Amino acid sequence: MGSTNSNLVEEHKSGHISWQSPANIALIKYWGKYPVQLPMNPSLSFVLNNSVVKISVDYTHSTGNEFRLASFTLNGQPNHVFASRISGYMQALIPFFPFLSHTILNINSHSSFPHSAGIASSAAAFSALALCICSMEQEVGGKDAGGKTTTEDNFFRKASYMARLGSGSACRSVYGGMVVWGKVRELPGSSDEVATTLDKGKVNPVFSTLRDAILIVDDGRKEVSSSAGHAMMQHHPYRATRIKQATANMRRILQALTEGNTEVFAEVVEEEALSLHSLMMSSSPGFILMRPNTLYLIDRIRNFREQSGLELCFTLDAGPNIHLLYFEKDQQQIGAFIRESLLTLCKQGRWIDDAMGDGPVRILEGR
Ligand code: PMV
Repeated sequence: MGSTNSNLVEEHKSGHISWQSPANIALIKYWGKYPVQLPMNPSLSFVLNNSVVKISVDYTHSTGNEFRLASFTLNGQPNHVFASRISGYMQALIPFFPFLSHTILNINSHSSFPHSAGIASSAAAFSALALCICSMEQEVGGKDAGGKTTTEDNFFRKASYMARLGSGSACRSVYGGMVVWGKVRELPGSSDEVATTLDKGKVNPVFSTLRDAILIVDDGRKEVSSSAGHAMMQHHPYRATRIKQATANMRRILQALTEGNTEVFAEVVEEEALSLHSLMMSSSPGFILMRPNTLYLIDRIRNFREQSGLELCFTLDAGPNIHLLYFEKDQQQIGAFIRESLLTLCKQGRWIDDAMGDGPVRILEGR
C-alpha cells in the first residue's frame, strides 16, 4: 500500500473534498489486536444509515516543506482534543501519501448524532477522513500509489486500509451493508488489513431490511476506552478461547445469513454481545461498561420476544447502550414496544431510529 509517488503535484494549489461515512455496529465483535491495528479475530458488522459523520477537507499546497492541520472543527466548534489526534493520524499517513508533507489542511466535521449519544463516532469519522485523503490523492495526482489509474476497487481498499490505522473498526465503514474484517477461511479475499463487503449472494433477502433502534442508557464518557480494552486482551486468560469462539461464531452467522435463519442469527449476535462484555469483566483489572438499565432492557427484550414471537435481538458496543435489531416488517409493533416498555429505561427517553445503510457517499455540492 506504500506510495513511491512522492512527486504528486507541485501544481495542485488548493481544493475541497467532502465525504459522509456511517457508523457501524458489529455482530461478530473485534476485541483485541496486534500492532498495527490488526485484529486478533475476524469481525462482521453492518453500517448504519442515519448515524453518519461528514468530513470536509480544504487543502492548500504549502510552499514550505510542511504538513499542517491549520484548523479542525466538530459541529462548528474548534476541538483541540480531536485536532491533535487527527494531526497525529495525518502525520502517520505521510509515508503512504507523500504529498501530505507539503499540504495545509482545514477540516470541518459534522456528526448527525449528538457526540454524547454514546455511539462510537470514530469509525464514521476515520472512514470519512480516509476517503477524503484518498480522493485528494486522486485529485492532486490522478494516480494511485502504484502509479496506475486507481480503480474503484483499489480506491476503497486503500481507504479501508487507511481508516483502519485511525480506528480498527473504521475500516468496515467504507463499505455499505454487511462487511467483514479479518481473514475468514470460507471467504476468499477477506483480509486482516482491509475490510470487504459480504457478497450480496451470501445474504438472504430477509436480512436486507435489518433495523437498529439504539437505546441510549448512558451518554457519559466511558471509564475504560476501547484501546485500553483491546490492550487487555494481550494477556487475557480467555484469549485463545475467544479467538476460537469468534471464528466459530463467524462460521455460524455466515451460514445463518445465507440460509435466512433469523433464530441462529439472534443466538449468535447475543452471544457475541454478552461475550464481549464478559471479556471486559474478566480482564485484569476487570471493568463493567453495562449499567443496571442495560440489564433491565435485555430482560424486557427477551421477555417480549418470547411473548410476541417476533424476530428481534440485541447487541452491545463497548458501552452501556442497547442496539435492538429487528426487521422492517415488524416496525410498527416494535416501535410500540420501544415507546411503551423501553424508553422509561433510557436516559431522558432518548433513542436513535436507524437501519442498515448503503455506505459512504462523496458530497459534491458547494464545489
Ligand atoms: O475500532 P475500535 O478500536 O473502536 O474497537 C471497536 C470494538 C467494538 O466496537 C467493541 C467491536 C467492533 O467490532 O466494532
